[in-house]
Amino acid sequence: MFKDVAKTDEILPGGMKAYEVEGIEIVLCNDNGKFYAFERRCGHMNAPLDMGTLNGYIVTCPLHSVQFDAATGKALSGIMPSYGGEEPVPKSMVGTFAWLASLMEHVKIHDLRTYVVRVQDGVISVDI
Ligand code: FES
Repeated sequence: MFKDVAKTDEILPGGMKAYEVEGIEIVLCNDNGKFYAFERRCGHMNAPLDMGTLNGYIVTCPLHSVQFDAATGKALSGIMPSYGGEEPVPKSMVGTFAWLASLMEHVKIHDLRTYVVRVQDGVISVDI
C-alpha cells in the first residue's frame, strides 16, 4: 500500500533523509531526480544510513563504510574500518583494534530492503 512520505523539494539532489512510515524506518534519497527508498538501518551493524553519504546511487554507511546500491539494496563492498583520524592508532590501542577487527570478520553484511517509490505532483509515495 502506497503511503505519501515527503515532497520532492524536501530532499535535494545528492541528499538523504530518514522517515518513519507505519512504524518502519526508511531513508529516501535523491540521485539527481531519481528517488529511492530503503531501510534506514545498515545491513552490517544497524548504523543509521541517512547519516552516511550518497554518491549517485551508492550509499556509504557512516560507521564502517560498507556501500550499498540504493536502487537494489545490494551490498557492494565489505567493511572499511577506519580509526577516524590522520594519526596512526596509538600503540596502547593496537591490541584492542586487532581484537575488534577479528570480531568484525564474523559479522555478516545483509542487503538492504528496498521499497517501490512513486512520484506524482511533487509528492513521493512509498509502497510499505
Ligand atoms: S554498521 Fe554500517 S558498515 Fe558497519
